[in-house]
Amino acid sequence: MPQRNEMLQRNEMLQCDEMLQHNEMLQCDEMLQRDEMLQHNEMPPRDETPRAQRFPSSYLLSVLLSLATLLSFNASSQVDPVGAERQSSYVLMSPDTKAMQDDPSLNPATFAVLDGEVLWRELAGKKNQSCASCHGDATVTMKGVAASFPKANSTGQLLNLEGRINHCRTEHQAATPFAFESKPLLALSAYVATQSKGMPITVERTPANEKALASGQRLFNQRMGQLNLSCAQCHAERAGQKLAGNPIPQAHPTAYPIYRLEWQAVGSLERRLRNCMVGVRAEPYAFGSNEFLELELFLAWRARAMLVESPGVRP
Ligand code: HEC
Ligand code: HEC
Repeated sequence: MPQRNEMLQRNEMLQCDEMLQHNEMLQCDEMLQRDEMLQHNEMPPRDETPRAQRFPSSYLLSVLLSLATLLSFNASSQVDPVGAERQSSYVLMSPDTKAMQDDPSLNPATFAVLDGEVLWRELAGKKNQSCASCHGDATVTMKGVAASFPKANSTGQLLNLEGRINHCRTEHQAATPFAFESKPLLALSAYVATQSKGMPITVERTPANEKALASGQRLFNQRMGQLNLSCAQCHAERAGQKLAGNPIPQAHPTAYPIYRLEWQAVGSLERRLRNCMVGVRAEPYAFGSNEFLELELFLAWRARAMLVESPGVRP
């Protein structure tokens, strides 16, 4: 029975997507509502949070309506912007939000940077070493470092900046790794990342990363979730158009970690990507998963030579 339901859902989704393209919104919407009912009534809950709470139907409806408009009326889909056509979503922000990012005394992420500066010098772990014990003055030694991530370490393991910091925690400090999205990990990554502010992203395709880069590109183009949309369908083909009133950015990871007004908190790129996945009703990848690292690598390569803004502010 659950299998049959899943098959029905998948099949309906495909049809729904086709319908959206033909602007048959009402029917599609009915299908999705039916689909939600099926899940509510017949499928065992997979998560403690009620489905309706995770995907508020009014939000979903506004996204769907907006998607119908995008996919039908503005059907002029474009190719992924490259070179000088690329833009940070900074340019799409209101003057107030821009001012908040530009002025450290207004940017709430400045607190994270200052916390990170303190943690940098704090002795930790069984080896009783601080980051500074080995790396010295971060304003010198960490210049341009964040702009080169994600990258493989000496043993060939692909790491993003957070992963690199935790690697130093466990290997070089003999301390426990920080939890994903924990305050100290965000603080240290904000502190290290801001040393690259204004510098170009330097991730290139190399023999060491080309396999992971290709996987990341595949994931970017792969349809996912109940809305059956790929990252590329929004961020390449429809960048600049509106979705539920918000402009769709090109999705360049130039500003992470960010202070997001919607979160009222600082968060990582992976947290942002999980939001997008939930938005298309996909099961988000786990923090630190290979999928995320590969996607992040692809996003960084796609944004190569663009300038780092960290820590950014986003709506
Ligand atoms: C005992 C020495 C030691 C300590 C302590 C240490 N690291 Fe490292 N770190 C290294 C070494 C060695 C490397 C590079 C070689 C490797 O392991 O791949 C490195 C690499 C890095 C890099 C990547 C540099 C680059 O150019 O790619 C970052 C970022 C970093 N460490 C951050 C930190 C932070 C943040 C802390 C404190 C939480 C810390 N490290 C603590 C030894 C240390
Ligand atoms: C249905 C359209 C849609 C899909 C599909 C989607 N996103 Fe997004 N994404 C958005 C919107 C809209 C925003 C901006 C939200 C805001 O600012 O409130 C966003 C924001 C982002 C950002 C933040 C950019 C910045 O400047 O901080 C990144 C990165 C991103 N998305 C990557 C992805 C990736 C990777 C995927 C695929 C796993 C994906 N998105 C799937 C609509 C989408």
